Amino acid sequence: MKRELRSSRWFFENEYYAFARRAYLRSEGLNADIFEDKPVIGICNSWSELNHCNRHLREVAEAVKRGVWKAGGVPLEFPTISLGEPFVKPTAMLLRNLMAMDVEECIRGYPMDGVVLLCGCDKTTPAQLMGAASADLPAIVVPGGPALSSVWKNRKLGSGTDGRKLYDLHRIGEVGDEEWCEIEGAIARSAGHCMVMGTASTMTSIAEALGMTLPGCASIPAPDSRRLAIAERSGRRIVEMVSEDLRPSRIMSREAFENAIVVDMALGGSTNAVVHLIAIAGRLGIRLALDDFDRLSRRSPYITNVKPSGEFLMEDFFYAGGLPVVMREALPLLHGACLTVNGRTIAENVASAECHNRAVIRTLDAPLHPEGGTAILYGNLCPDGAVIKPTAASPHLLVHRGKAFVFDRYEQMKQQVESEDLPVDEHSVLVMKNAGPKGGPGFPEWGHMPMPKVLLKRGVTDVVRISDARMSGTSFGTVVLHVAPESAIGGPLAVVETGDEIELDAPNRRLNLRVPAAEIERRLAAFTPPPPHYDRGYGRLFLEHVTQANLGCDFDFLTLASALGRSRVESGQPPSPAVP
Ligand code: FES
Repeated sequence: MKRELRSSRWFFENEYYAFARRAYLRSEGLNADIFEDKPVIGICNSWSELNHCNRHLREVAEAVKRGVWKAGGVPLEFPTISLGEPFVKPTAMLLRNLMAMDVEECIRGYPMDGVVLLCGCDKTTPAQLMGAASADLPAIVVPGGPALSSVWKNRKLGSGTDGRKLYDLHRIGEVGDEEWCEIEGAIARSAGHCMVMGTASTMTSIAEALGMTLPGCASIPAPDSRRLAIAERSGRRIVEMVSEDLRPSRIMSREAFENAIVVDMALGGSTNAVVHLIAIAGRLGIRLALDDFDRLSRRSPYITNVKPSGEFLMEDFFYAGGLPVVMREALPLLHGACLTVNGRTIAENVASAECHNRAVIRTLDAPLHPEGGTAILYGNLCPDGAVIKPTAASPHLLVHRGKAFVFDRYEQMKQQVESEDLPVDEHSVLVMKNAGPKGGPGFPEWGHMPMPKVLLKRGVTDVVRISDARMSGTSFGTVVLHVAPESAIGGPLAVVETGDEIELDAPNRRLNLRVPAAEIERRLAAFTPPPPHYDRGYGRLFLEHVTQANLGCDFDFLTLASALGRSRVESGQPPSPAVP
């Protein structure tokens, strides 16, 4: 039986406003009969000139439109806010939930039957997935794709990863001003997001692993013509998805999230994926815990040799076969029967994927590391958990005991690491407070504290660093992140003092402050929280409702996990369709 289109309630009900909507769309040259019996497909575009990673998405949108028209739908493109990672202060993460709300409410409020989500830069993918999960109309993701490899002096550079390494050399004079200027001109040479396995590549790959893109979509470089071709096919497919009523809640099941975690581990993906996946799942009433990441990490080998954990770049990854090859390799660890947007299962989609370069994508039998790229730590310093990326850390520091050197604030840290007589050595543990969801504010990517100049000059390139911040997915080093509860709300991190001994034992997943419990209690009793950063506007809403890192940093009133009954949440049942 033919289903009534949702959009017809905007255009064909017997009321004045139906007439008005038809009339006003005629001002765009769209006659009313165009909408009759045709699904309206919203194209949710995060294009912005303040988001260089997504600057080509208008062209991608045109390709999607061709596909929608061809399949018998009517495409209508709409903007939302866009989050350009390096441009938003204090951090794009402060606005991820705002963008998710923007996406959700546009889908809910406008006449559309399905939606195509155009994303790319770090936060735009999770924000769109969160909003689309809550709205729960048929949805398909088309990422903009990674940028081409950067090349400087015949050396391949990955934006973010190599930029940071070269900046450290620039700080101590080993890269001169002229060279630094050349690097600036070379490191971002095309449209597309950062071309390492940073947060953007991780999250677009995760969208594919969840089943929310057509197979192979995440890895195609932004300027490659195959990007536009797959965008056109995605436009055709969303029209079919509307007639099949194929909604995100049917695709993003608990098993699909477990697949996404396994793939994230196989990729050596960004630590930010932990926070985003918990938040997306929460929108569907599925409770992902940090323990799910650790459990799956322990049995998911790391097989993708791409920076920052590996050697190659996303362009090499695409030429080697891209994500479908990784998923085919990981298939024994995946729920192969999970449904995807093309109506087929994960197993069917990757069955014929072929690897063209084993140096880039390994097999499960010959991995780069026997476990995944993310480990979860617990201990008296992080009772609700912390995250480390062992694949991007220095092996000799993964089990380490050292004296803390404490920075109370980010600005203080930034100043002091430049000091030539900072009293730290290669055994020191750098600790930074007040950089979590409320303390930052917004959970900024400050966790990859720059190496103190005094150590760089001695040839020391890594020390243990601990904070309640995140770090860029392009970063590397022995960096403990997402300490929860955060210091600004009185987590134990708040009472660490310079000179305290800290013990990290990543293989055994422990992080402890080696100070007697009674002393920690005494210090915590004397703790006073810092004043809030905002007393009005979105910032105040954020501070009042953001959850801690281990819960995904969504707003408490937006997670379905908090709204549904406990048994339903834990069973992983999808919620009822959320839009009328
Ligand atoms: Fe957008 Fe790196 S700045 S992905």
